[in-house]
Amino acid sequence: MSKVFTENEASYCKSKANPSIHFAGRFAAKEAIKKCILSSSVIDSLDFKDIEVLPKSNGAPTVTKINKIPYSDLQVSISHEKDYAIAMAMILL
Ligand SMILES: CC(C)(COP(=O)(O)OP(=O)(O)OC[C@H]1O[C@@H](n2cnc3c(N)ncnc32)[C@H](O)[C@@H]1OP(=O)(O)O)[C@@H](O)C(=O)NCCC(=O)NCCS
Repeated sequence: MSKVFTENEASYCKSKANPSIHFAGRFAAKEAIKKCILSSSVIDSLDFKDIEVLPKSNGAPTVTKINKIPYSDLQVSISHEKDYAIAMAMILL
C-alpha cells in the first residue's frame, strides 16, 4: 500500500465503509494516468506515488499532485461497482 498510495489517498479510502473498492478505483486511475503520460512519450518512467488522486468537494476525482510532468490539463474519471473498478484519464500537454 505504501508503495502505491500517498498518505492522503490511503486515509481517504480507509474512511469508507468498503475501502478496497476505493483503493481499486484509485489504482485504476493511477494506471490510466501513467499510461497516457507514457504513451505521450514526454517521460520514460513514473512511479504510482508520483501521482496523487483525491476527491474534490463534490466527490469528483482530481489529480492533486503529479511529479515531473509539465501539462496543461489532466482529467481523470473513476467508476466502481461491487468487484470491479475502472478509470480513464486524458492529458493535454
Ligand atoms: C456523480 C455520480 C454520477 C457518481 O456516481 P457513482 O455511482 O457514485 O459512481 P461510481 O460508484 O461508479 O464511482 C465512484 C467514483 O465516482 C467519482 N465521483 C464521485 N462524485 C463525482 C462527481 N460529482 N463527478 C465526477 N465523478 C465523481 C469518484 O471518483 C468515486 O470514486 P471514490 O468514491 O473512490 O472517490 C453520482 O453521484 C450521481 O450523480 N449519480 C446520479 C445517478 C443517477 O442520476 N442515476 C439515475 C439514472 S441511472
